[in-house]
Amino acid sequence: MASLKKHLSCLFWHFFIIIGIFASAASPTEEATALLTWKASLNTDSQISLSSWVGSSPCNWTGIYCDNTGGVYNISLGSLSLSGTLDELSFSSFPSLQYLTLRNNWLHGSIPSQIGSLSQLTWLDLSYNRLSGAIPSTIGLLKNLTLSVILALPLGLSPAV
Ligand SMILES: *[C@@H]1O[C@H](CO)[C@@H](O)[C@H](O)[C@H]1NC(C)=O
Ligand SMILES: *[C@@H]1O[C@H](CO)[C@@H](O)[C@H](O)[C@H]1NC(C)=O
Ligand SMILES: *[C@@H]1O[C@H](CO)[C@@H](O)[C@H](O)[C@H]1NC(C)=O
Repeated sequence: MASLKKHLSCLFWHFFIIIGIFASAASPTEEATALLTWKASLNTDSQISLSSWVGSSPCNWTGIYCDNTGGVYNISLGSLSLSGTLDELSFSSFPSLQYLTLRNNWLHGSIPSQIGSLSQLTWLDLSYNRLSGAIPSTIGLLKNLTLSVILALPLGLSPAV
């Protein structure tokens, strides 16, 4: 009886440890949904570049890398001729994201302030796009961030930040 009790209590703790792991990692489905929503907002050629983005497991999609808990930690989509905006990208869906590059594409519009919700981000490269507006102050919330953004200015002069 004592041994059964011990066994049950052990099971109980395993249960909580497993729940804990799932709760701290993003759900791959949520990440996949966020990526697919953004893909759908891009132009047709961009969607062709991202044709491996189908289904609900993003870890083997073009430019998407997961950590060993299955969370997306690296989105590396440089030089894919992606055309569209960042408006439909749900930044809050990527709690494990450390590295984001969208360098050298055709992205336009402004940088959403929601980018500040990427709490683990250490590398952000949005350079060589057509982004305009201001760099959101929420980026200042990100600790240890290496930032490379070049904003399009009317005079054709683009300060690197
Ligand atoms: C990605 O992985 C899923 C299952 O994990 C598999 O069904 C699919 O074929 C893989 N896709 C590619 C492009 O490797
Ligand atoms: C992210 O992926 C890119 C492309 O494979 C790679 O060059 C870069 O080093 C990766 N970054 C991290 C932090 O793993
Ligand atoms: C910042 O990055 C450096 C170098 O990668 C690392 O040694 C340091 O621990 C990081 N600090 C925090 C607060 O993550």
